[in-house]
Amino acid sequence: MTTLFVNIKELIQIREKSTKKVSGAAMNILPTIKNAFLLVKNGMIIDYGSMKKAPTSADKIVDCTGKMMLPTWCDSHTHIVYAGNREQEFVDRINGLSYEEIANRGGGILNSAKKLQETSEEELYQQSVKRLEEVIALGTGAIEIKSGYGLTVAAELKMLRVIKKLRENYHIPIKATFLGAHAFPTKYKNNKEGYINLIIKEMLPKVAEENLADFVDAFCETGYFSVEDTDQILTAAQSYGLTPKVHVNQFTTIGGVQVSVKHHALSVDHLEVMNSEDIEALKGTQTMPVALPSCSYFLSIPYTPARDIIKAGLPLALATDYNPGSTPSGNMNFVVATACIKMKMTPEEAINAATINGAYAMNLSNEVGSITKGKRANLILTKEIPSYGFLPYSFGSNLIDTVFINGNEVY
Ligand code: NIG
Ligand code: FE
Repeated sequence: MTTLFVNIKELIQIREKSTKKVSGAAMNILPTIKNAFLLVKNGMIIDYGSMKKAPTSADKIVDCTGKMMLPTWCDSHTHIVYAGNREQEFVDRINGLSYEEIANRGGGILNSAKKLQETSEEELYQQSVKRLEEVIALGTGAIEIKSGYGLTVAAELKMLRVIKKLRENYHIPIKATFLGAHAFPTKYKNNKEGYINLIIKEMLPKVAEENLADFVDAFCETGYFSVEDTDQILTAAQSYGLTPKVHVNQFTTIGGVQVSVKHHALSVDHLEVMNSEDIEALKGTQTMPVALPSCSYFLSIPYTPARDIIKAGLPLALATDYNPGSTPSGNMNFVVATACIKMKMTPEEAINAATINGAYAMNLSNEVGSITKGKRANLILTKEIPSYGFLPYSFGSNLIDTVFINGNEVY
């Protein structure tokens, strides 16, 4: 089965197979071909180029006149498996409470954990499916999903089994991250060591035994998991082959970047608060910094200092953080726009961060994130727009015409 896309106004994010990520000044370069064709066979990109060289026949031909095509968004940080919502906390914050005050009253992550523990696996799956389908329709074609709203052995496994079922039933790459170290359950408030032992001695072995996770995460933050706690958990996870992707520097800088780099983390995520040592620690490493601007927007906290990170020659990825507490939105189009508007990233930088660098942050560089021969034909076809800069410029508008997953039109 071959599909030929013709008369594409501009084909965006064309890369050699060897390009895994883009860093520093190179982030401002977005390779494109104007007036292009793209050929898909059995769900894979097999050829592309100028219309002058387009093949003349295929099983199916899609005329893209006036429209742009780019790889689907790679959302490398989400918590889309959750139960219910936290709309009441949203209103509480409007009325003056802080995220921290709400958490200290037993709200926040513990509120979501209580709801999730009371929800059946099937019901949790049904709620999560809605969010997954929603984000695919918004152009996301590869996603990472974390556990971390279970906080008991049974509930963490339930979350990870739901992620596994999503992976079985949906045809986009889905990576699973074990985030047992998301918050200390009330029961362990005065026995933090007890909960860390539960993670290390009971959760991790079961997660590994059922092969339920690709990565391990911890919320390394004042009032949550200390640098020492994080170090202990990442060390234990390493013996099960789980690569770290870590929540660090959301509210305070306590050494989360450094401990993650020490464990060869694939990514460090949030980074709203960064000092020069944190930036220095990332230089020369394989660790991808990941910014989550929708979280900054929703909580009214600082935005990740993208300009400082890029100026230091580092790469940067963008993701949603879709979750019920800090970011109830999984819209990568909004993320890209907000990165431009609030973090002063150029459209080129933001698109690179949301595609090729996002793929890297999920260890999916060989499958998605660019228009490359041999990669999946996970593609966004835009409506008729004058330039790709129009995507972030027209923030809040839906400029997606069609989403293709493995070459098939899905939305
Ligand atoms: O990435 N920061 C930690 N975890 C989530 C939000 C947790 C919640 O409020 O439910 C985040 O923002
Ligand atoms: Fe998160």
